[in-house]
Amino acid sequence: MFDSDQIVYLNGEFIPLGEAKVSVLDRGFIFGDGVYELIPVYAGEPFRMPHHLARLQRSLDGIGLTNPHTDAQWEALVRALVGRQPFADQGVYFQVTRGVAKRDHAFPTDVVPTVFMMSNRLATPSREAVDRGVAVVTAEDNRWHRCDLKTISLLGNVLMRQLAADHGAVETVMFRDGFLTEASASNVLIVVDGGIVVPPKDNLILPGITYDATMEFAREAGIPLTVRPVPKAEALAADEMWLSSSTKEVLAITTVDGKPFAGGRPGPVFRSMWEIFQAKKPKAH
Ligand SMILES: Cc1ncc(COP(=O)(O)O)c(C=O)c1O
Repeated sequence: MFDSDQIVYLNGEFIPLGEAKVSVLDRGFIFGDGVYELIPVYAGEPFRMPHHLARLQRSLDGIGLTNPHTDAQWEALVRALVGRQPFADQGVYFQVTRGVAKRDHAFPTDVVPTVFMMSNRLATPSREAVDRGVAVVTAEDNRWHRCDLKTISLLGNVLMRQLAADHGAVETVMFRDGFLTEASASNVLIVVDGGIVVPPKDNLILPGITYDATMEFAREAGIPLTVRPVPKAEALAADEMWLSSSTKEVLAITTVDGKPFAGGRPGPVFRSMWEIFQAKKPKAH
């Protein structure tokens, strides 16, 4: 359940979730016409906020929607919302839709975008999930060809995530035309011969902030890194396979389609990267 007293932000106001209401003509509701972001917050401090705001701008540009706020205004809103929640670690979710208008596919003119923000407790993976790794299933990627935009039109991803849930797995790893893309709400990285290999940030995957962070940390640590298309057969025979996202951080995959993967245990490169990641997170002071 959710807490209807939790303070959220809607169109200029901080109000209880139970009082936050949007018109049924909002284009987010009617068409899924909007974009979103999720920023992890550790010990009250947002992690990589400039990267998230840059991706928000990219998503807004991609759907032809003017950013309703400057980065400084977004930062102030994020910090104000975070300050109104009782949790140290949070996930700030925010979305911008094209606003409320008579139903017509073409963009309306002179419409004010709808801005909604909420911040929940950040549920990072349990120690058990980190130590044992997690299960995934695989599927052909049947989503549209603009997976690089973080849009709220998430039905393709929702159906993929449900496929995983139906099989007691945490994610569905997807392949398109024989190559690895990503998972329903995470990027996917593999390890081959001690080096990390990742698919390129093209139109078929979301440019993950955690994917970028992981690559940056790998470079600093001297872990070899290759960006190139990853054939399905190579991914399924890799030494390690990981998920990355703002809520999962990095998480090893140890079961694929019901069978043990890569010896059924998180590998050494994963364990190093997980330690590095923990050390990089903002700490309480
Ligand atoms: C489809 C998809 N890919 C990748 C990611 C990972 O992105 P990030 O690391 O910025 O959270 C997400 C995050 O929600 C996602 O929904």
